[in-house]
This record gives sequence, structure tokens and C-alpha cells, in this order.
Amino acid sequence: MFSPPVGADMRIAIVGPGALGCFFAARMAQQQDHEVWLLDHLKERADLLDSAGLKLIEREKTFSVKVRAALCPEEIGRADLIIFCVKSHDVSSAIERVRPLAADDNLLIAFQNGIAHHRVLQEEYPGPWALGVTAQGAALEGPGIVRHGGDGATIIGFASPEERFFALLEKSAQIFEDAGINTEVSRKIRIHVWRKFVVNVGINALSVILNCPNGKICDSPLGRERLAKAVAEAVLVASAKDIEVGADPLAMTENVCKSTSINISSMLQDVRLKKKTEIEAINGALVREARMLGISVPENEKLVREVKAIEAQYLF
Ligand code: PAF
Repeated sequence: MFSPPVGADMRIAIVGPGALGCFFAARMAQQQDHEVWLLDHLKERADLLDSAGLKLIEREKTFSVKVRAALCPEEIGRADLIIFCVKSHDVSSAIERVRPLAADDNLLIAFQNGIAHHRVLQEEYPGPWALGVTAQGAALEGPGIVRHGGDGATIIGFASPEERFFALLEKSAQIFEDAGINTEVSRKIRIHVWRKFVVNVGINALSVILNCPNGKICDSPLGRERLAKAVAEAVLVASAKDIEVGADPLAMTENVCKSTSINISSMLQDVRLKKKTEIEAINGALVREARMLGISVPENEKLVREVKAIEAQYLF
């Protein structure tokens, strides 16, 4: 069904100028009417993005896109939509930074891996917020230079029923749609979040431990066996929480390994850049959920220990 564009003068604040943040910003800023801001915590990078804009590489064509970038939300003034593209462990500090933008007539949509940020948003964010999952492929080639790797579905929805803000959610979906980002509004976002979560539980930590692209994990019998155990434990926890993660979660995870076979997972990228990983938001969060439910998840406990030991070699 054709939906008319949401119209002029949308002001969008995207927090976190990583690959996904820059991709969303570039696509939305290509809509001439929209004023797109990137909120950054690094002054030098914010200055660079504000003066040079973004470069979006789509199928070997490079587009220069003008965006605004700022260190402080006060520079933005007001926002129609706030999008979080920061790492899961940075959600709490990002909330502090956008607090002046939070209002009852705008929406925050959080696109993080894992499930650890849900509680943080619930406890700390003062305005309406929704969760998002996306299969859009994007890779950063330098500050503000993003390569679009391929299209995939984007789904947004409220973690708990928020009927009074539903129009806001639909308006936000239309902003994504107008930017050529195929977006569905779901009343069952938890299912979509958990399906992605199960895939990340199976792939990310093992890609770090085996130090390999996603496709190689299932090439070794040990990798395949450990992935299957990690996914089976995640499914046990999901079932105990009454969350339907699909007919064959193992096949789903193995398929993602294949379809992203040459990808370096986000967790392995973090390790290679000597950054803090999202292990606590993914396998760590699963272990915590399992403990609360009295379920044993030894494979995930082992994955957490092993990734933390690798992190300890370069963090602190
Ligand atoms: O975190 C990631 O890297 C991605 O979610 C996935 C699906 C594992 C592909 O690399």
C-alpha cells in the first residue's frame, strides 16, 4: 500500500556514528526535507562530520551527504525521532546525553545487539522508546565513510504495549521507508529481538574464540558442536520465557553463518580494534536470564569466560 512521505522538516538525532548510525543518517539526510544530526561523544570526529558530511558507498557509487553533527543535544534543539546506534554497554550514557531531547511527542528507537539494554531503557529513559532490529548490512571504512553491504528487513516495535504512542511508531517507520529502508512495525518485537539474539549467541563469541569470519565457524566439527550447544541453551531459556524463536533456530543460525560467511562479526571487529565487546549483552545476558530461571547453560558460561579472558589481554 502506498503511504505518502511523512513530510518536511523532520529533525532526526542519531546517536553513535558507527556503521549503522552513518548508514541511517546518510539515507535519511538524502531526503532533502529532513535535518539529520549525528550526536557524537568525540569532539574531533563531530567537527569532521559536521564540516565534511558523510560518504555513502552504494554498489561502487559514492554519494556525499550533508549532515549536522554535535557533541551536545542542546545544539539540536528538538527532535522528531531519536535513534540509538551505540553499543549496548553505552546505552546508559547515551540516555544521559539525549535526556534534554526526550519528549512525549517524539520516539527513541534502540538498535542494539543482545537484550541487556531493554532494562536500562525501561529504568532510565524518560520518554517513549521502542526496539529495532535490522538486517541492513553496513561497514565503516573511515570516520563518516560507510559502505552499504545489502538490504535486509528492519522491524520496530514497543517492548510492552504502548497504544497511545502507536501513531508515533508508524510515523517513525515511514521516515525509514522514505529513506528506502524497508521497515515493518511489529506488535511482537520481542520475538524478532530474540531471534536475532539467538543468532548472536551462536555466532559472535565463537567467531572471537576461533578468530575467524562467520562462515568458518561451522567448518570445524568443534565450532559446529559448540554453536549448536550455545543455541540449544538459548532456546531453552526462550521457551521458559514463552518466546517463540522459530521452528529451527539452529538451522536459522547456521544459515546466517552461511549468508554472512565472509563477515567479521561485530564482536570480532571489537576485539581486533581492542574495544570492549558486547559479550555481557549477548552470552552474558543469556547466562543471567538462565540463572533467574534456574536453567543450566554451561556452554554459554564457558563462552563468556573465554571471551572475557581474550578481552582482559587488551582492556585496562
Ligand atoms: O553482530 C554481528 O556481527 C551480526 O549480528 C551477525 C548477524 C552475527 C553477522 O555478522
